[in-house]
Amino acid sequence: MNRRDFLRHSGLSAGALGASAGMPFLSHSWAGNEVSGQPSQERIDYSFSMNEQKVQIYLAGFSDTVRITMIADTHLFRDDQRGDPYREYSARMAKAYNQTAHFKTGEQTDPESGFRQSVHLAQENNSDLFSIVGDLFSFPSEAAIEWVQSQLADADMDYLYVAGNHDWHYEGMPGTLQELRETWINKRLLPLYQSANPLMFSRVCKGVRIVAIDNSDYQITPEQLAFFKSEVSTKAPLILMLHIPLYAPGRPVGFGCGHPDWGHDSDRNYLIERRPRWPVAGHTPATMAFHEAVFSAPNLLAVFAGHIHRQSLDILHGIPQIVAPANANAGFLQIEVVAA
Ligand SMILES: [Fe+2]
Repeated sequence: MNRRDFLRHSGLSAGALGASAGMPFLSHSWAGNEVSGQPSQERIDYSFSMNEQKVQIYLAGFSDTVRITMIADTHLFRDDQRGDPYREYSARMAKAYNQTAHFKTGEQTDPESGFRQSVHLAQENNSDLFSIVGDLFSFPSEAAIEWVQSQLADADMDYLYVAGNHDWHYEGMPGTLQELRETWINKRLLPLYQSANPLMFSRVCKGVRIVAIDNSDYQITPEQLAFFKSEVSTKAPLILMLHIPLYAPGRPVGFGCGHPDWGHDSDRNYLIERRPRWPVAGHTPATMAFHEAVFSAPNLLAVFAGHIHRQSLDILHGIPQIVAPANANAGFLQIEVVAA
């Protein structure tokens, strides 16, 4: 197994890996055949390392430090009498993560503790941004959303939020995934976006553009594809955050958005999750084009995602994609962009 294959198959639940410390990532030196797209311009000059939950990106020509604390998959389930009319849609997920095991120690913990600890960590580390990358909630409970708003207001720090597939999903409620997402974002989750477009937005942090895309229905819209391309065209260093990681060769269908086998026949959970079965046609052309655009973007530093509930690293065309361990288990990532 060569180095690239080893990294591709590494699922890092613990331990340290200096994946690429000191190695410049120039895409023309990565003749991988996983993705057909080729960079159209010289790749931005950087390298990265990952040691347990700390990800460092060493960026040539950068003289500042950007610190981001990132979480995904908290799965908050707090609810009150306002949730009574929705019990038939929330019952399964309301029980799914009531007690959890700490991702490192195995000790008993719970989603609210995981969230509070990561907020505290972000404050302690003077994070420029607290990034919440989906499945913050197990269903769109008003009580849970209010609890988060009060925690974030008390912390008084910059944050971004983009949805995961559970945040807006009342299981079994009639409607397409797209309809349910639009309905419950607008009815409940909207304040968390702080006036940003819930499906696509970017935040500039000391010259680094943090791009958030909602792929929580497993698809990318043509508008999101165009938005990502417009971010690439700025030529500024980019970090992409989305809930469902992007397909990496060798990973199973459940892992990645853009997997060629994703679709009707490979959907094993639609009955459990009481949602429409994935489409016969598989991913939309825009979703597949997005995957290609991401891993051929010359100014993209890294992709960060959640959904899998287990820390992992894949590298495609020299671009790392890192999945955070679930915040329901107290998981988090600490990301730093520093001078090379
Ligand atoms: Fe999740």
